[in-house]
Parts: sequence; structure tokens; C-alpha cells
Amino acid sequence: MTLRSVILGTGSYLPKKKVTNDELSQYLDTSHEWIVERTGICARHIAAEGEYTSDLAVKAAQQALEAAHLTPQDIDLIILGTCTPDHTLPATATRVQAKLGMTKGIAFDQAAVCSGFIFALATADAYLKQGMAKTALVIGAETMSRVIDWNDRSTAVLFGDGAGAVVLQAQKETDRGILGSLLRTNGAGYDSLCTTGGPSTTQTSGFVKMSGRDVFKNAVQSLGEAVEEILKIHDLSQDELDWLVPHQANKRIIDATAKKLGLPDEKVIHTGAEQANTSAASIPLALDKAVRDGRIKKGDLVLCEAFAGGYAWGSTLIRM
Ligand code: ACO
Repeated sequence: MTLRSVILGTGSYLPKKKVTNDELSQYLDTSHEWIVERTGICARHIAAEGEYTSDLAVKAAQQALEAAHLTPQDIDLIILGTCTPDHTLPATATRVQAKLGMTKGIAFDQAAVCSGFIFALATADAYLKQGMAKTALVIGAETMSRVIDWNDRSTAVLFGDGAGAVVLQAQKETDRGILGSLLRTNGAGYDSLCTTGGPSTTQTSGFVKMSGRDVFKNAVQSLGEAVEEILKIHDLSQDELDWLVPHQANKRIIDATAKKLGLPDEKVIHTGAEQANTSAASIPLALDKAVRDGRIKKGDLVLCEAFAGGYAWGSTLIRM
């Protein structure tokens, strides 16, 4: 009998502090107009001192569990998509496991930068389908503010902090659930979007540096292919899609992907204006927002996509 990984609940969390473009412009040589025109971003949330990636993840996870009417004891797998772990080792997911009060199961991190949630979702789907776990928490959580050089205008304006989570359960005889995922990487893009350091190279975490134009060009091209290919694999047409829930890196990249799909903007979930690029957290944050405000409903066909440093990118089709 075919097993499907069904989303039972979603949750999210944004730190209280919000920083607008105008506030950044007070000390950086930039402007609200420049940032909005190039990216669509107006503001970003920033974690408080002493508030870590694991704290954000736990809050999003608790909300997702509540929505699913489950407790941490019902979970036997946590996969945390993050590129900003609390410590270099061990996996932040194990800290989340402890903070949730879970004493069984498996918890590990998945590193695919902004595609971390898509990769984590595909991994959890494979675990559930193989019977290695029954009910999973898949989380994307980031404190990007900790790996940003706040004096570098080319990156400081782009990122924010936050977390989103879904509860995924293996179920039989259902049309709902993850229909499939398509994941790709190309290490030739490694230097185009990376940090200036790392434990093995500089013994520091370093700051994000990016060749914006290269990333933009590759993102538009790869995402266009990734969304077309996954629809083809599943013999679906773009007209059958109810929603596009994209990674929120840049409004212009999202618009290009929606155009490729022929999807009107009303079918695209946008959160970038108020949250900026929260890396692995952006897709589950957007999904949760649209589920809670009633746009995404049970039975809807949702396409998620992300492009990230690595390069690592992918798409996922979900029947909600
Ligand atoms: N304010 C004002 N001027 C700026 C700023 C800023 N914040 N940042 C850069 N500039 C300047 C540059 O210095 C440059 O000036 P110059 O011509 O005097 O040298 C000029 O603006 C143009 O710079 P570009 O980098 O060429 O600007 P571009 O139009 O490419 O826009 C941007 C930059 C927004 C980063 C764009 O390239 C982009 O969106 N790239 C994709 C980035 C992205 O999505 N990254 C994340 C994806 S993966 C992930 O999520 C980790």
C-alpha cells in the first residue's frame, strides 16, 4: 500500500525586533527605494541577544504541533534545515529535541542553505516512506543576522531571522501529502554565495559574501527548469496548481518563476517585503502564513521551490 507523507500542521515564529530599510539607511549608504526596487524587501526581523536558532525552531515547532493536535512525544524524527546552527557541533536539531522534551527518535540538521527546508522535507518524506519514522517535525530556522556583516550594504539589506515548521505523518490510502521532490546541486557555484570563514578554514563562522548578479542569473534559470520538470514528472499542468510558495530571496526572482509557470500573482505567496530572506525558514514561514489566513486549504495543490548557495536548489509538490 502506498504511503504518503501528509502535512498535519504548520507553525512559525518571527523575533519581535523589526528593522526597516529606513533604519538601515541611517548608517548604511543605501535607501528604502533602492532596496525595494531591487528586492521587494521593506523590513526584516532580528533575533534578540541570547535568542538562538534553536529557540526560534522550538517556537515554530510547538505551534505546528498544536495545529496538528499532537505532542512532542508523538514525534520520532526531527530534521532541521539551517545554515546558522547554535554551535558548530553537535546538530542544533538535538538541542531542539531536548528543549521540546522529546526523549526518543532521531534529530539531525540538514545543510542546504536557503534550500534547507526543501531538502529536509524530501529527506523526511523518504524516511517516512521507508518506515524509518512515522511522524516528523520538519523545521527551517535561521539567525542570518549573526552571519551578516552589517557594514556591507550589498548583503546587510537582504536577510532576516525566523523559523517555520511542519508536522509530517506517514499515512496510507490518501490523496494528500508530498507527491514528490526534485533536488539538484552544482558545486561550481560554491564561491558565488558563501561565508568568508568556517570552522575548518578560519575557525570563525565568517560573514556572507555573494556575487549577486551570478546568483540572480542562476536562480532564475535553475528555478524555471525545476518547476517545469517536477510538473512534467507528475504529469500535471500549471493550471492545476493552486499555489506557488517560493523561497523569499528576491521578489524579482519569484516573479520570473511565476511568469515561467504562467501563474497570476494572486496565486503566489509573498512574505519577503516584511521578512526579507530568512534562508531555510522562508518557505515554512510563508506556508504557515497562508494556511493560517485561510488562503491555502486542505486539498490544494502547492508547489514550493528554492535556490541557494552551493548551488543547491529544488522543488516540491504537496497536496495539502
Ligand atoms: N544600496 C545601494 N546601492 C547598492 C546596495 C545597496 N544596498 N547594494 C549594492 N549597491 C550598489 C553596488 O555597489 C553597485 O554600485 P556600482 O555600480 O557603483 O558598483 C550597484 O548598486 C549595482 O550593484 P549590483 O550588485 O550589480 O546590483 P544588482 O542590480 O545586481 O542588485 C542584488 C543586487 C539585489 C543583490 C541582486 O543581484 C540580487 O537580487 N541577486 C540575487 C541575490 C539573492 O537572491 N540571493 C539570495 C539567494 S540564495 C539565498 O537565499 C542564500
